[in-house]
Amino acid sequence: MSTSTYGPGADAGDADRADLVVVGAGIAGLTAALCAAQSGLSVVVVNKGPSWRPDRGEQPTSTFYAQGGVAVVMPDVRSTGPDDVDSIDLHLADTLAAGGGLTDPVASRPILADGWSSVSALIAWGADFDRDADGELLRTREGGHSVRRIIHAGGDATGAAIQRALHNAVAQREAGPGRCIRFLDDAIVTGIRVDDGRVAGVSYLRNARWGVVDAPTVLLATGGAGHLYAATTNPSGATCDGIALALRAGAHVADLEFIQFHPTMLYTPGARGRRTLISEAVRGEGGRLVDVHGRSVTDGVHPMGDLAPRDVVANAVETAIELTGHPCVYLDISGLPDFERRFPTVSAGIRAAGIDPADNRIPVVPGAHYLCGGVVTDDEARTAVDGLLAAGEVARTGLHGANRLASNSLLEGLVMGRRAAAVAVGRRHLRPTRPVPVTTPGPAPILDRDLLQDTMSRRVALRRSADGLAAAAATIASAPRRIPATVREVEDAALTLTASAVVAAATARTESRGAHVRTDCPLTAEVGESHTFRLVDGEIRESGFAGIAV
Ligand code: SIN
Repeated sequence: MSTSTYGPGADAGDADRADLVVVGAGIAGLTAALCAAQSGLSVVVVNKGPSWRPDRGEQPTSTFYAQGGVAVVMPDVRSTGPDDVDSIDLHLADTLAAGGGLTDPVASRPILADGWSSVSALIAWGADFDRDADGELLRTREGGHSVRRIIHAGGDATGAAIQRALHNAVAQREAGPGRCIRFLDDAIVTGIRVDDGRVAGVSYLRNARWGVVDAPTVLLATGGAGHLYAATTNPSGATCDGIALALRAGAHVADLEFIQFHPTMLYTPGARGRRTLISEAVRGEGGRLVDVHGRSVTDGVHPMGDLAPRDVVANAVETAIELTGHPCVYLDISGLPDFERRFPTVSAGIRAAGIDPADNRIPVVPGAHYLCGGVVTDDEARTAVDGLLAAGEVARTGLHGANRLASNSLLEGLVMGRRAAAVAVGRRHLRPTRPVPVTTPGPAPILDRDLLQDTMSRRVALRRSADGLAAAAATIASAPRRIPATVREVEDAALTLTASAVVAAATARTESRGAHVRTDCPLTAEVGESHTFRLVDGEIRESGFAGIAV
């Protein structure tokens, strides 16, 4: 196996073996890759995007586009008042309150408690979080947080700063056999190879050629599912790849019905694909949500007003749109005189859409933003398939429950990426029982992407009903079967399979909870349960799965 070093244009070349394959190059994937390499593992990162170049404007990961920041409890932080005193207990209480009864406190506490040490590692790798004149980290507030605990970088360019720091740290790793990270850029994983019940590697498609990497451990860190919908805050790569790979490999998924809609995506009528996010931190710094008549959108809805948990605010926005018949609401930023300096990313995004920040009014609508559920993992990122790990948005650890607390996701990706690396270190001695030949995918249902997105946007969005879900299920079931032969078709197969799982999960949940609102079942059951699904003979079936045997 060649050992080309990380850098512009570098790739894994004829790579066919590694100690760890990481699928995805966001915060969870690169953190795992770095930690594993620090322990001497050889790592191949399969990245759907182009090779990283510091001078390139964008990377197609959700991490890169993250604005608000990282929610973290800092020890020994200088307190600026009674509203400022934080603790893991308080962070957990806020996480549980947002999570609509499905956040697992046992899994969540250690993740939150590991936050500061993980953020410290990120800072050591070069992440330049914003600080005040005394060098103290600046903190802001977002929805559902009872104190200011969100650290940020570049104002609202937190994700870009993190992505840059991680890539720089990767680039600084010495090359050499067994001590390097190699990238397969512009590549998509098409299948997880499982041999004798154990992971043996991945198959991938790159430049119209199929290849394999043998490895005893594979980490799915593929991000989210935003492109199930016509408009989303997610980058183009958020096409459910990891969910589909995990289902086909035999892993379980849970809580897929909880697709979080961000309350403030820039309103751009008729546009498809990634839309500009207006960070919740804008409200944390004093922005106010008003309807077309200037009335507060959240008055009387929740004691936390515009900074209530995200599901509450998104639904209040939807209600205001319905009641006024106006297609959007507005974020009034007149109370933020320094807006452009504090929010340069948002300012550039709205300017690109022809809106002048000096107008003090940003038109917004709810937009598909985050998959709260995902591939079921234990607290070490292990799935039910021996050797298959998942971390970041693709995973369901139990932290997010029915509605993720804002800015808990970068934290989770960081913490779980580190834990996944530790698992990979423990498995490095395992070798595939035999070489497995290159395999190409078989026929799979593939629905036209526009039809799929329009169906999901109309029937399975912020509000659902049994009739709408049945109509969506029928459309998805009509998908023709084809052999995916391009990256786009591999993505479309993943979107189609995941859409059927989301619809199955939303149909099974005959109540309203968190990010899942059923207009025909508005009540919330007294006791909440997660529903777990798997793929059986090509069909999504409820699995009644209760834990992970490791
Ligand atoms: C935001 O900046 O509003 C997004 C934060 C998040 O999704 O956690």
